[in-house]
Amino acid sequence: MDVTISASVLAGDPGALTWEARRAKAAAADLVHLDVMDGRFVPPISFGQETARALGEAVDLPLDVHLMVEEPWHHIASFAAAGAHLITVHAEATPHLHRLLGEIHQAGCQAGVALNPATPVGVVAHVLDLADLVLVMTVNPGYAGQTFLPGSVEKLNQLRSMLRGVSRPPRVGVDGGIDLGTAPLALGAGADFLVAGTAIFGAADPLAAVAALRRGHTPRA
Ligand code: DX5
Ligand code: ZN
Repeated sequence: MDVTISASVLAGDPGALTWEARRAKAAAADLVHLDVMDGRFVPPISFGQETARALGEAVDLPLDVHLMVEEPWHHIASFAAAGAHLITVHAEATPHLHRLLGEIHQAGCQAGVALNPATPVGVVAHVLDLADLVLVMTVNPGYAGQTFLPGSVEKLNQLRSMLRGVSRPPRVGVDGGIDLGTAPLALGAGADFLVAGTAIFGAADPLAAVAALRRGHTPRA
């Protein structure tokens, strides 16, 4: 499976998000990742539906909406209407994950489920043939620029084992602290969808950074 790169604009200039989204496109990222935070599920408050709409109108890249919010079911239809291509909800934020992923599909979007570092992979066992993406958080969510948690590799290995025999397996994503050092670890453990913020927007050459993340190793000098 090809490696997909989703560029997290949270790591960019918050006063120039459409410009950052255009930089993601110029860097050949596959999606724009929008981290939606409500100040409750995670401490910060970040972006809402109108930001999603503005980014979708500004740049011709699919929009990957990561909902770090409590009661995410209130916001599926509005983010779908705002142009989301993929909506990812946290397993910790709903007692009815199967139903919620179905609602995301009914809204016309691909459906992802994210797992906090403390959440075992078993909680997604019943949705593996429904989800389009399982997003393993490789940091505690809430902020860009954090350090990859090493226990994530074992979690990815467990997830890969669970996916054996699933007829329509989801993509396996990682989010947080993904850079040229940690991307190879994640890819080696079966990830095929990398969310990266600082590694792209903080790079001197974002185009080279995206290419190197995708390949899983640093380009030769
Ligand atoms: C963390 C967010 C991530 C974050 C990634 O809560 O979900 O998407 O912005 O940023 P980096 O790649 O800088 O860790
Ligand atoms: Zn994210």
